[in-house]
Amino acid sequence: MNFVEAIAEKRDGGGLTHDQVATFVRGASDGSLPPEQLAAMLMAICCSGMGADETRWLTEEMLNSGEVWDLAGDRPEVVDKHSTGGVGDTVSLVLAPILAAIGVPVAMMAGRGLGHSQGTLDKLDALPGWNSNRSRGETLDLIDTCGAAIVAQTDDVAPADRTLYALRDVTATVPSLPLIVGSIMSKKLALGAGALILDVKWGSGAFRKTVASARELAVALRQVAVETGVLCEALITDMNQPLGPALGTACEMREALAILSGGGDTRLREVTVGLCRGAMVLRGWDAKDATAALDGVLADGSALAAWERIAVAHGADPDPELLACPRSTREVFASAEGFVTACDGEDLGRVAAEVGAGRRRVDEELAHGAGVLVHVRIGDRIEIDQPVATLLVGQREVDQERLVDRIRRAFTIGPESVDPPKLILGTADDIAESSDNSDQ
Ligand code: URA
Ligand code: CA
Repeated sequence: MNFVEAIAEKRDGGGLTHDQVATFVRGASDGSLPPEQLAAMLMAICCSGMGADETRWLTEEMLNSGEVWDLAGDRPEVVDKHSTGGVGDTVSLVLAPILAAIGVPVAMMAGRGLGHSQGTLDKLDALPGWNSNRSRGETLDLIDTCGAAIVAQTDDVAPADRTLYALRDVTATVPSLPLIVGSIMSKKLALGAGALILDVKWGSGAFRKTVASARELAVALRQVAVETGVLCEALITDMNQPLGPALGTACEMREALAILSGGGDTRLREVTVGLCRGAMVLRGWDAKDATAALDGVLADGSALAAWERIAVAHGADPDPELLACPRSTREVFASAEGFVTACDGEDLGRVAAEVGAGRRRVDEELAHGAGVLVHVRIGDRIEIDQPVATLLVGQREVDQERLVDRIRRAFTIGPESVDPPKLILGTADDIAESSDNSDQ
């Protein structure tokens, strides 16, 4: 095949054949195409888009570029959950034990923190002993032992995505819908759970800034899943401010434990329960029965007990006393009194990463006691002497004054009350296509 012709075809808005898509993905994984041709094709796809068939071929070829676990082949009842990423998104740590307590087994491949968002694997590392590096066989054993497996994505999963993602990053082609779908779904399908619940974030702290664009992504992700035989639903949720109040590793673990004990933050709880319910409905539960069961396991201690079993099975000591504590804390006060009208979650996430919950170099150690606790939400009335957040300082040397100032500036305070954005907008189908202007 003359790949220049394929690039020209896509540049001019044409459709690629399955063969052309396969050549492209192979070119990325085995180096049989030079980076300039891969980059040109990425830009052509970014500008011209892809149809549903092309998107599915792209996803399948990326999936087949690496190791395919196909967990559903051995444990058809397993569900997976994926979030498109955000700040204060502690959901995975809470969802897995809740579903395990209910008897819906869960498997998730998790990643490290990236930029402003903290990674689930990093949060789990806050528990001494947790081992995320698991083979397929060990993952099946974990599912059987404790009802949940949260494991690290191996280097052998969708290797084409690593090459393409790195090229997208330097060619301004990250936002392309089919490229995002291929990237996310190739990794989800590699794990191969038979059911997948998606949390697609919209808003200032998400990479889809409008409801319409989040909905478009939700529809495209679900379509690929369903066409490949995976039960799938997507909820569109708010990321115009951090989801939960804790941004960090040990502090998010503590927040998860608070919810599993029947308390905790109401927003984080609501989204987590909504996603659990969505997963249960995919598994044939009636939504009302699911809600009752979810309330039950949170109230009677069985979700917390499931968490302890999960931690032990993954090699960790679940004793919360072992979680790292901050070395010191700094309260951050508002710049004015009034109402919180906006909250820059992205910058708060970057502050949390900088103080120790993330890495500035790939090999940097995390400071597990470090992070940011957010005390106010959009719509809240605050007084001048009321802290809006707390900076948790850990073992890393940081410029505290500068971080405190950045936290303060992340909150916009105005004289008039505003309505907080709706937390769960619903499924893609619940939201009319005409939510286009997406100013809500
Ligand atoms: N997450 C991914 O894994 N890939 C993307 O392209 C976007 C989000
Ligand atoms: Ca709208």
